[in-house]
This record gives sequence, structure tokens and C-alpha cells, in this order.
Amino acid sequence: MKSEKKTFNLFVERMAKIRELSSPPIYDFDDADDYIIRLKNNFETIGKLAGQNRQMLDEVLFPILNSDDALSDEMIDTLSEFSENLLSLAEEVTSYENLDLPIMTLVADRLMENSLKYGTVDEQVCCLDRALLAVYSMMNMTERIFSDPSISLSYKERGLKIGQFFLDICEKDNFLKIEDPTWRELALTNARFSTSFYERSTDPKENEKNLEILEKMLEIADDPFYQEAVPDYDWRYFKIRTYGYFLQSTDMGNMRGFTDKQLERIVEIADEASELIATDPEYFNSINGHTAISFQCARNRYYLGVISEEEYRKVLMDTYESRDRTDFESPDGNFSNVLIPLEFLYLMRGKKLSAKDTLLLKHLYQGVSAYMFGMPNPGALSFVMEYFAEVVHSFIEVPGVLTFEAFAMQSLAALHPPTYIHSQMVGQISVCLCSYVADLRPELLIGFPGVTTPDDVKKNRERILSYVWHASVCHDVGKIPIIDTIFVYGRKLLDDEFRIIKTHPQMGYELLKKHASTRGYAEVALGHHRFYDDTKGYPPDFQTGKSAFKVIIDIVQCADCMDAATDSVGRSYNRGKTIDDYIKEVSEDPGSRYAPWIMGLFEREDVRNDLDFLLTVGRQEIYRETYQLLKNVKEKAN
Ligand SMILES: [Fe+2]
Ligand SMILES: [Fe+2]
Repeated sequence: MKSEKKTFNLFVERMAKIRELSSPPIYDFDDADDYIIRLKNNFETIGKLAGQNRQMLDEVLFPILNSDDALSDEMIDTLSEFSENLLSLAEEVTSYENLDLPIMTLVADRLMENSLKYGTVDEQVCCLDRALLAVYSMMNMTERIFSDPSISLSYKERGLKIGQFFLDICEKDNFLKIEDPTWRELALTNARFSTSFYERSTDPKENEKNLEILEKMLEIADDPFYQEAVPDYDWRYFKIRTYGYFLQSTDMGNMRGFTDKQLERIVEIADEASELIATDPEYFNSINGHTAISFQCARNRYYLGVISEEEYRKVLMDTYESRDRTDFESPDGNFSNVLIPLEFLYLMRGKKLSAKDTLLLKHLYQGVSAYMFGMPNPGALSFVMEYFAEVVHSFIEVPGVLTFEAFAMQSLAALHPPTYIHSQMVGQISVCLCSYVADLRPELLIGFPGVTTPDDVKKNRERILSYVWHASVCHDVGKIPIIDTIFVYGRKLLDDEFRIIKTHPQMGYELLKKHASTRGYAEVALGHHRFYDDTKGYPPDFQTGKSAFKVIIDIVQCADCMDAATDSVGRSYNRGKTIDDYIKEVSEDPGSRYAPWIMGLFEREDVRNDLDFLLTVGRQEIYRETYQLLKNVKEKAN
């Protein structure tokens, strides 16, 4: 056992190291060249560390997870130690991102299953507590995949089942079966937490149930039976948290659609919360999430019509102005820096914007952007993504303020510079390939909007290339909402993770479709993971052959693969291939992935030379520019 314990520690240490190496703080570097060299070295190290971790998972963890039998004591110890080691890492850096949630969820599930069959009540509470947290985090992450709600739905169903266990165990007849007071507290906390699984629900029945459970929690808080059963519990905290759950249920412009009657009750709760806070302001001020509670009180009053939009806006604005721009880790920091702008977006959505609104929008976008750029890497990303993804989703494009394309590029640069660099590279490679197509095979571009003859291609050359540039830099925009789930450095992807990643073309399509500046590029994003002959790739039901942008989709698809295969700095920890290696490899087995006319281009020396230049000198240049961009924004923010 001892040696395994050591292995797990090593696993966790390696994972922390991998995270650290993959997004080093920009201030660590002397200059752009240092940035490039050290990133390159970092990714080589990541490759080694990842291999070791993968081996450990395959040899020690997966055999236990995949066994159908009852877990032996030794297996339980192994799994518990594994998750405890991971949890200790998360505590150290206050970030769930370091947890490797998908693996955590598998481990927690397996332990839970076993404890429900064979464990004591206390053991069950302990195992289910962990499972609930893991499943919730997965639901929270996958909720942002608006193109495929079934992924988060499966986590929701699992979470509600576990939540029901806690609700049942908190019934008076069962509660004293839990022996340890710590587990009793945990059971109460989780019973309330179970309502979080309704957090995006628009089903009136579920909303009703959500409020019912919270009412029950308020009863419990005042019930002497529970106070005697858990005398040392901070009941004031329990109560204010329960109030907080009521109030947050209308987050994001009451998108869940609570009725007036329900809102009336929530407003009553807001009053009770305010009264409770007034009894000991100092204590409540020290509680994280206090800022959120104050503006949520105002919001609920606004939705009920008790206060005017103007009054509500004033509260939002005051909260926003007094935000701590460097608070990345507490709920208050996230609420005031990202949720407030989001609430403004909800207020403005679908309305004619005044000149004042337009200016406000500009400031809000600048604020959110500065906040995302200022985030200490990689620490608090998952935490804020819930709201940030919603900002991306609810973005309002106003000419002269910020285009969605520019906002998306900023987001990529702030959240994951290697993906930003990749997008720029795909842009350059695509423009290069397309310029050869325009000159050498103009007939291929017939069908592009406004182009019916080879001569049209000549006349429209610049317009076509400009289209190619914008469409190709936007190809991975769909990754933004899931950016923290897809960079699982260091191990094989699990089935669920593949499912998540495969949603990005569809998500990109839907995001790009919404805005005037990007609408025309949506099909290219949708098709960039399809094979040339449409036999394979994803999404499975999109036929690139029917698109007016078929040739451009094929170019971007090829440029995407080429950048990924040849990059040795940023994204991949495999050593990057040279352009000749790459061309040789794809020519030996062209299959049906790439267009034959692209393979034809590769035979030309001038094409190869240009590509070689872009993949070496060109790439270095983009790294330099990105380094400078990041450094400038950080300096401006400080
Ligand atoms: Fe992609
Ligand atoms: Fe890509």
C-alpha cells in the first residue's frame, strides 16, 4: 500500500506541474524569444510527465474502476487515497481545475456505488458528498454546451438522485442514524445543495420543487430537533446560504421564468435576508457571496415590479463600480466582475439601445475582457467560466463597439493563448493555400457567393482571401465555452470528454450565426472537422459537399491539421513535424480526409516553401505578437 500512496502523490504533483507548465504567467519571461523557447521546453516536459501519469492510471486506477465486483478494502483504500490526493491539490491552489474532474467523477461514482451496497450510513454520507460535488462540477461545465444539452442532463439526473439521498437522510426519522456530527452537517449542506441541479431548469414543476426544498431547509434551520442534533453548527451561516440559494435562482435575468407568486416569496426572502444581515453586519460582510446577495435582493424586487429598472440599474452599477478587479477566486469577485455585466446584457437584450447604453456596453466589455486577461493562470478559470460562457452566448454586437469576431479573439487570447495562436496560424495557412487556389485552380472557387466564372475569381480575389482569413481565424470559436474542459493535458481522453470536444464545430456555428460580423463564416466552423468526401468527421449530419464554401472548408480543415501536426511549441506535447514530414505522411495515405487538389498543391515547390516559411518564421512571429499582446494588456491592467 505504501508504495502506491507514494505513486498517487507523484501523480498529483505531476498534474500540478503540467498545469503550471501549460500556461506560465507572462511575467516569467524576459522577452518574446524566451517565451517561445520556454514554452517549447515546457511542452516537452509535459509530454514526459503525461506519459508517466497515463501509465499509472492504466495500471492502477482503471482496473479498479472497471471491475464489476465488490471493492476489496484494499481497492477502497486505493480509490480513497487517490481522490484525497487530488482534493488536497485543489485545496492548495483553490481551483477545481486541478482536480481532473472527469477522473474524480469516475472514482467518486465507483466509491459511492460500493458504499451504498456495503457501507455504513456515515460512510455513505462521506462517499456521496464527494460524488455530489464531482457530478455537480461536471454538470456545471457541460451546461455550457448549448448545442447538446443531453450531456449535462445526464449529470443532472445523477446529481438529483444523489441529492434525494441527502434529502431522505435529513428526514427526522433518519437523521440520527448518522453518527458523526461532521457528517450530519454535511448531509444538511448537501440536501440544500441538491437544488443546484435545477439551476438552469425552466420546467415549472422543477422550479416549484426547488423552492419547496429550500423552504424545508429554512424550517430545519429553526427546528430545535436539528439544533440539538448538530449543536455546534453555524446555523446563521446555514440560513444565509439558504437565503442565497433562493435569491440566486433568478440569476441571469430570471431565465428560469419564476412566476410572480414565486417571485413574491423570493422577495420576502430578500427582506428576511436583509434583516438577518442587519443583525450582525460585520459577521455577514465577512461571508463570501455577500455582495451577490445584496444585488440579488434588488434584482428580485425589480422582476416583481417593486422597484423600477432605473433603480435596479443603479444597484447593478454601484456594485459594478465598487468591484475588486483583482478578485479572481471568491464568488463576490466573479459576481461583480462578470455576472453584473451579464445581468446588464439580459436587461438590454432585444431592446433598442440608447447612446448611453451603447457606451455602457463598451465599458462592460472592456471590463470583462480586462478581468479575463488579468486572471492568474491557470488558477481560477473554471470558476468564472460559468458566467463568462454566458457572456459569450449573450453577447450583443453593436457596430462601433466591438464585433463578435474581435471579442472572440480576445477571449481566446485571454483564456488560452495557444488556441489563439493556433487560430492565427490556421488563418495564415488558409490564406496562403487559397491564394494558390485562386491563381492556379480558379475554377474550384466557382460557387463562392458572387463568383460564377474563373474571371470572377480574379476580380474578387481580395474579397475571397479576406473571407478566408476571417472564417479561418473563427474556426475554433466554439471551443470558448468549453475551453477549460478540453485541455486535459496528460492523459487519454475519456468518452465523455470526446463527446464534449466534438460539440465545438456546432457551437461555433451557432455562436457565429448570431452576429452580423461573423454570420457568413458559420458554415466553415461547422465543417472544419469533416473529411473531404464527407464520409467521416463531425458533426456527422453536415454535408460539406452541399456548402457554397466547400473549397474553403477543405482548406481550413487541412490548415487546421497542418498547424496541429507541425506545432512544437504551444498545444501539442508531441514533437512538431516539419512540413516535409507532414506532406510525406499525408501523401502516403491520402485516404479521403484531404481534398485531392490540396495534395496536388503540395507537389509544388513554391507552395511547400511558402508553407515552410509560415510554419517556422511565421509561427515565431505570431508567438512574438501574442506575447506582446498579453504583456501589454497585463501592464495596462496593473
Ligand atoms: Fe477544431
Ligand atoms: Fe483548430
